[in-house]
Amino acid sequence: MLNFGIIGVGRMGKRHASNLCHGRLGGVRLKAACDIDDDALEWCKRHLKGATLYSDYRQMADSEKLDGVIIATPHYAHAPIAQYFIQRGVNVLIEKPIAPTVTLAKQVAAEAARHPEVKVGVSYNQRSNRMYKKAKALITSGKLGEIQRADFIITDWYRSQAYYDQGGWRASYTGEGGGCLMNQCIHQLDILQWLIGMPNSITASLRTVDRNISVENDVSAILNYGDFDCTFSASTHELSGVNRLEIACDRGRIVITPLKMKVIKHKSQREVNRVTKHGYGFSPSRSYTVGYGACRLIADIIYGQQLRSVRAFRDAINGKGEMLARADEGERAMQIINGIYLSAYKGRTVTLPIDEDEYSEYLETMKAAEQSAKPHMQ
Ligand SMILES: NC(=O)c1ccc[n+]([C@@H]2O[C@H](COP(=O)([O-])OP(=O)(O)OC[C@H]3O[C@@H](n4cnc5c(N)ncnc54)[C@H](O)[C@@H]3O)[C@@H](O)[C@H]2O)c1
Repeated sequence: MLNFGIIGVGRMGKRHASNLCHGRLGGVRLKAACDIDDDALEWCKRHLKGATLYSDYRQMADSEKLDGVIIATPHYAHAPIAQYFIQRGVNVLIEKPIAPTVTLAKQVAAEAARHPEVKVGVSYNQRSNRMYKKAKALITSGKLGEIQRADFIITDWYRSQAYYDQGGWRASYTGEGGGCLMNQCIHQLDILQWLIGMPNSITASLRTVDRNISVENDVSAILNYGDFDCTFSASTHELSGVNRLEIACDRGRIVITPLKMKVIKHKSQREVNRVTKHGYGFSPSRSYTVGYGACRLIADIIYGQQLRSVRAFRDAINGKGEMLARADEGERAMQIINGIYLSAYKGRTVTLPIDEDEYSEYLETMKAAEQSAKPHMQ
C-alpha cells in the first residue's frame, strides 16, 4: 500500500482527496493532507478520516514517510513545494502548470534530474484522452504524411464575471501568472506540442473582453513551425463555444471535437496537384471515426479526468507504467504560453525558446500594474 499526501485541499485537492479516500485508486491510501486555510483544514477533519493534517508542507514532509504527494496549490507555490519534496526523495505529481514561468519550470525539472530515483510528473490529464492518443500514434506512424497546417479553436471554457469575482489568486498575473492561457488553455497547448511538436516562433494578440479582470480571456496566435503554421484561438467569454483541433497532412486530415475524432485519408495532395491538368483536383477519400467512449465520459463526470493522472503516477511509482507527463515535459507548454504573452505585449514575433530575462521583466511589469490598480493583491 502506498502512502500519499495532498498539499492544497481546495477544489482540485478535494477531488483528489475524495478519490483516494473512497478507494477509487487501488493500492493507495491518503496518509496526510496540508492546507494553509482553516476552512480547508476543517473540511479535511470532517471528510478525510485517518489522514494527519498539517498547515505547513515542510512539517508534513519532515514528519511523514510518504511515497507520493499531489500538489494542488495555486501556481506560484508549485515549484518550491515540489523541490522540497523531491529533495527528500518523495515522488511528486504537480497539478498543471508545473510552474507559471519557463524559469521556474526548468528549476523543477533540474531538481527532478538531480534525483532520477524520484518520479516527478505534471497532471496533463488530457493526454489520457483516447482520441488524442490515437491521433499521436497516427501522426507518429507517418501514414498521413507531412503536416501542412493545423488549427486549434477552443471557445467552450465559458467563465462569467461571477467566476472571477470569487476572488483569490485566479485571473491575475500576481496570483496565477496569467489568464485563460495559463489556467484553461494549458491543457490544449500541451496536447498541441505533444501531437505536432514545438513551434519555432509565435505571433500573438490578447484581449480582455467584457470582464473586469487584468488578464486575457481572448487569445489569437499563429505558431510558426517552419514548414507550416498552426493557428490557435481561445476564449473564455463566449457562449455556445466550440473545441476543435484540425491537423491537415499531405495524405489525410484529423479533426477532433470533444466526443469524436474523424480521420480522413486521401492521396498525396502534392501528387494530386502534380498530375491535375485542369483547374480543380479531386481525390477519393476514406474516413473513419473514433469516439471518446461513453463509459470514460461518465467516469470523468463522477471522478474527474484527473484521476487518470494519479493512476498513472501510482503505476509509475510501482514500476508498472509511465506518468502522463514527466517534469522535463512540463516546460514545453510554458514556452508556448510565455511566448504568446511576450509576443502580444511586445507587438512582435517571438522566437522560442523565449528570452527568460525578457519574460521576467514583462511579468514584473504586469504584476506592478495589477497591484497599482488593485493594491489588495499580493
Ligand atoms: N488538471 C486539471 O484539470 C485541473 C483542474 C482544476 C484545477 N487544476 C489546478 O489545481 C491547482 C489548484 O486549483 P484549485 O482550483 O483547487 O484552487 P483552490 O484555490 O480551490 O485551492 C488551492 C488550495 O491551496 C491552498 N494553499 C495555498 N497555498 C498553500 C500552501 N503554501 N500550502 C498548502 N496549501 C496551500 C489554498 O488554501 C487552497 O485551499 C491549480 O494548479 C489549478 O490550475 C487542475
